[in-house]
Amino acid sequence: MFEKLRSKIPIDILNKEIDLENFISKARIEIDKNGYFIAKKLISNEWYHSCRKEAIEYFNKYSCKKNDLPTALRGNVSAGMADLLGYEKNTAWHLFRYCGFRWNKPNIELIKVLETSHSLSRIRNVIYGNDLEYGDFIEENNFFTYTSLSLYPLGGGFLNKHIDFKPSWNIKPMIHFKVELTHKGKDYNNGGLYLTDKSNNSICLSDYVDPTDIIFFEGSQPHEIKPTGSGKLGRIAFFEIPASVIPSSRKCIYSGDGISFPKKVLIKIINLL
Ligand SMILES: [Fe+2]
Repeated sequence: MFEKLRSKIPIDILNKEIDLENFISKARIEIDKNGYFIAKKLISNEWYHSCRKEAIEYFNKYSCKKNDLPTALRGNVSAGMADLLGYEKNTAWHLFRYCGFRWNKPNIELIKVLETSHSLSRIRNVIYGNDLEYGDFIEENNFFTYTSLSLYPLGGGFLNKHIDFKPSWNIKPMIHFKVELTHKGKDYNNGGLYLTDKSNNSICLSDYVDPTDIIFFEGSQPHEIKPTGSGKLGRIAFFEIPASVIPSSRKCIYSGDGISFPKKVLIKIINLL
């Protein structure tokens, strides 16, 4: 398993000092006990700085156009949809969010971020005991994963407290990972990622994360991004979201030949019900 995992990750991403087997076994124990684990210096310095540079340049280029951007995506993914950069400011969240889907050609502006996201999703799968490539593409149960890169802008970027999986939901809980590309106390002064651990303590994980560290946590533990405050850049972070495509988005009419327009409309309506 570990050999296969290594072969599915670009050789330069991980810190060469990391003992993958040891790290994964430690992560499993810590996540089970506390609900989270911070993997110190998991990725290489060079790779981290390439991702940070890409993300900062990306948001520098597009965040000034926020009034022209669509609403940021949260849920409701249709199979085959285009990558999306959105902006939202309401009572539940305030952020820019880029969503990249593996069925599209990779965005050349974020190539390192996307590669890292895909690689860490495979590591996450191994920690959690899933197939290595679980969610790389759409599974039979409509499950898949996609890259989400967010900028929580200065002056109050936030995301309300929530959980991503409830035991009652018909979906297997998964662990998340987070790659923080800007840092509390350096790039923004307040807020960051807070998690309620398994002893019911609210912990600011961003307080403990340095460049090249990766956070892993159970999505079923309550978590939120508290308002950013002032600073230079705001909070930029990415992860690979475990999600499901809308079932009706996969039900298409693949043979148009000889089917009348009213019949096509009827089939589409039936599929949406
Ligand atoms: Fe979440």
